[in-house]
Amino acid sequence: MSNHSLSNESAVIRPFALSLSVQARAALKHQQPCCLWLTGLSGSGKSTLANALEVRLSEQGRHTFVLDGDNLRTGLCSDLGMSDTARKENIRRLGEVARLMVDAGLIVIVSAISPFSIDRASARALFGVGQFFEIYISTPFAVCARRDPKGLYRAALDGRIKRFTGLDSPYEAPLAADCEINTDTVGITEAVDRILASVLKK
Ligand code: ADX
Repeated sequence: MSNHSLSNESAVIRPFALSLSVQARAALKHQQPCCLWLTGLSGSGKSTLANALEVRLSEQGRHTFVLDGDNLRTGLCSDLGMSDTARKENIRRLGEVARLMVDAGLIVIVSAISPFSIDRASARALFGVGQFFEIYISTPFAVCARRDPKGLYRAALDGRIKRFTGLDSPYEAPLAADCEINTDTVGITEAVDRILASVLKK
């Protein structure tokens, strides 16, 4: 399939106004839907924290869903590589899916490197005020490289993987995250406490 056949140049789209409002769906779930967006280096602890957040919230009777970069890259985003353009498209898709899930009434936890500030800002712009929280998992590169849970840092340092985040592909740290967690110094339980406290405060 050529790129041309995927373009929308001849499409005239008029969205259909649904009868059920976002608020009505949220009210059925007795929760305020929102998106917790976890950004940070590979191996920083994003997926572990996203999982722990989901478990905690579900224990509190909250209806959640985790959109994990690694998981989505096996399906919806399996056509995408690691170029800057591909990462941009990856984050665009994650943002759009998260937005749909928030509209459906869910508390959505996104866990993806999401290395570029502009793409995270575009994701935030999809949501209403108080619906999007940027959580910076600031575990330093050296710590992530020492953990190296998937052997990717070794491979990248040996030159077997190109465009590795923090090495030969940039990571733009958030300047004003809603919450920052360094998993080298903060345990999982405390990290979950802190993230949820920062969300509740706002
Ligand atoms: S993002 O940059 O587009 O946000 P995403 O979070 O979806 O990335 O996927 C990152 C995951 O892909 C990492 O956790 C790692 O397992 C894997 N990966 C494979 N190649 C790379 C690479 N070159 N840089 C970073 N992560 C990589």
